[in-house]
Amino acid sequence: KFERNVIITALLVSGLFIFSLFYAMGAKKADVTECLPYDKSYETARVNQIDAHTYQIFYVARMWNFEPSIAYIPVGSEVDLFLTSLDVVHGFNIFNKNTNLMGVPGGVSKTTVKFDEPGVYKVVCHEFCGTGHQNMQAEIIVN
Ligand code: CUA
Repeated sequence: KFERNVIITALLVSGLFIFSLFYAMGAKKADVTECLPYDKSYETARVNQIDAHTYQIFYVARMWNFEPSIAYIPVGSEVDLFLTSLDVVHGFNIFNKNTNLMGVPGGVSKTTVKFDEPGVYKVVCHEFCGTGHQNMQAEIIVN
């Protein structure tokens, strides 16, 4: 009897989590972070222009900086962000954007962000990664 209650509670809680995830994906249009198969090309930091308003930024995190440290993107662009790490686990958060990635060595995280407002978007590491953690940041300049 007790076990049955525990199982039912667990199922309800898992159901709620799954529901929240789909709700966030659908109703609120949150972009859910994807994890991609790893390959060495992700270790090269770079910005790629796909077309006039579509870009890719390949970020490489390491103690204690992000490469590219500054990226320039035109207003109205949609940007696919890819992130990997060369050492420990790092975080990746863009101020005023609903963006939260983990930089994991041997792994790639991806998300898509639309920049409709010009400005300097600060990126910070939000995962404690050693003595230089609080200085680990980058900028995305949208103009
Ligand atoms: Cu990288 Cu904290």
